[in-house]
Amino acid sequence: MDTQHPSAGSAYGGAPAIPRKLTIPDVVGRKRDHRRITMMTAYDAAFAKLVDAAGIDVILVGDSLGMVVLGYPNTVPVTMDDMVRHAAAVSRGATRPLLVGDMPFGSYQTGPTDALRNAARFLKEAGMDAVKIEGGHETVDTVRALVENGIAVMAHVGLTPQRVAQLGGFKTQARTARAARRLIDDAVALEDAGAFSIVLESIPAPVAAIVTERLTIPTIGIGAGPDCDGQVLVLHDVLGLFGDFKPKFAKRYGEIGAAVVDALRAYDTDVREGHFPDEEHSFTMKETELAALRRAVAQPKAG
Ligand code: KIV
Repeated sequence: MDTQHPSAGSAYGGAPAIPRKLTIPDVVGRKRDHRRITMMTAYDAAFAKLVDAAGIDVILVGDSLGMVVLGYPNTVPVTMDDMVRHAAAVSRGATRPLLVGDMPFGSYQTGPTDALRNAARFLKEAGMDAVKIEGGHETVDTVRALVENGIAVMAHVGLTPQRVAQLGGFKTQARTARAARRLIDDAVALEDAGAFSIVLESIPAPVAAIVTERLTIPTIGIGAGPDCDGQVLVLHDVLGLFGDFKPKFAKRYGEIGAAVVDALRAYDTDVREGHFPDEEHSFTMKETELAALRRAVAQPKAG
């Protein structure tokens, strides 16, 4: 892990080394150095802190927020205000990872001017380092405009969940030679437009391998096989916190949802049976104050 000392003059002073914040050139450089990139979603300060503590390189404040936190059936209803509020919370919780804010549906499709205004909110109001945009060739002009105006962009092709209605569901993309060729051309065009990395979602592993070989920017896979330069998953899928829908590509590394239900059942039982709160979790007062209080409440109320 890259580190820096908090004060320059303390090289011999035993100052604790703190992890250095990752930059966009760091992430791009990983591909050159053949070091895999890890990316995870987060939506609030508490989990962002935990993702940071785990040593993850990039936090994506994904518009998957809509499904796993806000309870929508898909990501379409998510607004810029939703995203900015949650992204700001994430940036208060994480210090080392690169932070990427996901542009929600409707925040960039109307053209570069709206895209610039909305992307700038992620940087100015929410402390994000970059934004992510779903789409292929149709987003190239927007990506170029953002990059030329100083906003780093992560592209996203393959299954683009904001188009779930058009795609007829959360389906694997680029399964024919023709569709795969189109996706590869889109990825190259997005790199040419200045994107610093690209998410490949739910596409055949061999197609992702070709894209990864063709591009000089890192590919970050989700359901795109092992040959991408990095991997991303949705936090709630990884932790077992989202039971409504589990994509085939999502690996569960914990069962936090079940642990939460167990803990809450124990609380529910303790309260119902009078075991909580006990002495340890209650406050006391001086005996003299309590005696005075008892005397006072024994008197008829004044007036
Ligand atoms: O919104 C999201 O979480 C994403 C990832 C699945 C890449 O876009």
